[in-house]
Amino acid sequence: MCGIIAVIQERGVVAPFLHQALKRLEYRGYDSVGVTTIANNTLYTKKDKGKIEEVHKRLNLDEMPGLIGIGHTRWATHGAPSMLNAHPHFDCEDKIAVVHNGVIDNFIELRKELSEKGHKFNSETDTEVIPHMIEDFVKDGLGLIEAIKEVTKRIEGTYAIVAMSTEESDKIVCTRDGNPLVIGTKSGASYVSSDIPAFLPMTNDMILLLDGEIASLTTEGIHIEKLSNGAIVDRETIKISWTADQAKKSGYPHFMLKEIHEQPDAIKETLRLRPEIVKEAASIIKESENVYMIAMGTSGHAAQAGRHMFASLAGILPSFELASDFPDTVYGSLSEKDCIIAITQSGETTDTITAVKYAKQHGSKIIAITNVVGSSITRLANHTIITQAGPEIGVAATKTFMVQLTSLALIALELGEMTGFRNSKEIVKKRNSLEKLPELVSEVISRNEEKARRLASILHEKPSLLFLGRGISIATAEEGALKLKEISYNHAEAYSAGESKHGPIALVQNDYPVIFIAPSDDTRNRIVGNIMEMKARGAKIISVIQKDDDEIRDLSDYVFTIPEIVESEYSVMPYIVPLQLFSYYMALRKGYDPDKPRNLAKSVTVL
Ligand code: F6R
Repeated sequence: MCGIIAVIQERGVVAPFLHQALKRLEYRGYDSVGVTTIANNTLYTKKDKGKIEEVHKRLNLDEMPGLIGIGHTRWATHGAPSMLNAHPHFDCEDKIAVVHNGVIDNFIELRKELSEKGHKFNSETDTEVIPHMIEDFVKDGLGLIEAIKEVTKRIEGTYAIVAMSTEESDKIVCTRDGNPLVIGTKSGASYVSSDIPAFLPMTNDMILLLDGEIASLTTEGIHIEKLSNGAIVDRETIKISWTADQAKKSGYPHFMLKEIHEQPDAIKETLRLRPEIVKEAASIIKESENVYMIAMGTSGHAAQAGRHMFASLAGILPSFELASDFPDTVYGSLSEKDCIIAITQSGETTDTITAVKYAKQHGSKIIAITNVVGSSITRLANHTIITQAGPEIGVAATKTFMVQLTSLALIALELGEMTGFRNSKEIVKKRNSLEKLPELVSEVISRNEEKARRLASILHEKPSLLFLGRGISIATAEEGALKLKEISYNHAEAYSAGESKHGPIALVQNDYPVIFIAPSDDTRNRIVGNIMEMKARGAKIISVIQKDDDEIRDLSDYVFTIPEIVESEYSVMPYIVPLQLFSYYMALRKGYDPDKPRNLAKSVTVL
């Protein structure tokens, strides 16, 4: 949530880079945007409400002087989206500029204190207390780094802060606690950002900044210290394998469509995970007394499917809990004998991180499944699996969902071999089918894309839809409904088809769209019964079926087809694809930007 970028370089103007980097970060928030540079001991600022290109058209973000600058794209928490609430924020004398991601819990008290001392505030944000506090410490004789250290002693909450000052225009200072910041480095320039894609075109060399550390970036390099005792941190540079091209649209009209099309490759890459990494995860799970899967949103749907995979392939049924409610559900019943599988593509979701910290306090082991090297969860986990989706820019998760499912399937197979729940012949057969998924998903895309576009033109005026499935397909139904809600703003609900007749069926009347996820597995015959019930009440039946399922085809008004029978454990992977495409085309048909859904951000770093 909120995207931060800062750069200091030896030569050239930084403004065009900041503008482009902000565009690469826009998936983190797009309520307003702002950029400040320093030249001739003066701060130059352009900021306003709106998406980056709208603001650029009005203000020309490329025309700003200076070799040093910071930028921010906002997801509003404190104060409505407006020019005054847009970051950067400043001290009273316009010498210090600050961008911030996170929430300062005690800002009301700090603001009151600063106002009483005569500080003038321009915004309603929590962030603005920071430059004013820095101003006071600098007036007391501290340098920028020391002043920010003092500020961190007074603020409560979570933060990633980046600041610069006209008095020390040879550096950018940044610190974090609970919100992400990564540093990019190359000869003659240093970068800091909320996420790697922002500086990918300039460098693949990254240095992690951990919670409780402060860094000063100059054109000469990076200096990192611990906030607690000033100890110097000597951190190695990590080479990122992601490429700048992966973070571009490459001819697709939207990142979401590109990422849907990248799913076969993402699965293929994730299937190449080193076997010992998967084995280690399976051994931890096997040795544990209770196994919990925790996650939010789409990652939660991967977890729900993962439970079925573990139960079916290994005879172990983990509990699934929303990370946001995990501590309030387990009531301290965790122990060191338990294991938590935390799934988060960003590795930064505060709900998930908070639940993981809680589980750690109880001594439980943590296995993380994430797509981002060096993200917060990787530093909390006892064991991490890095999925291989490459950067995902579309706010609605698609290919990261696919690789989470792939990783869970790999762990389930390994676990199945360890527990002996399935004989080795069965495991080999299931492994072989998993290997075929990239090709299958690719075929599902080509078979269903045009159909999805057509269905969107039929249903775009429907205010509400129901998604139904049974068993593992409930996860598919939930993910299908979530995608539709997120980007096309339709009311959509997902239910177990079994549960649907216990209440939701009351919604159904003539032409009400009900989407059935109906793979040819053990649930199929009961799904036929549920289709009949809905049909009898006039519902418009849309089904996702195996291509030869003529019976359901005949019962349906519209079908998406999957070319082959898939092992039930993996059915979510091909069956979700038509629904991703349908949501995408619904958003387009209704005139919305699928890459930038309202009120959402790629990484949710507030509780
Ligand atoms: C849905 C979506 C969100 C995320 C959720 C968790 O398309 O992207 O529901 O799945 O915010 O995010 P991560 O996986 O980063 O923890």
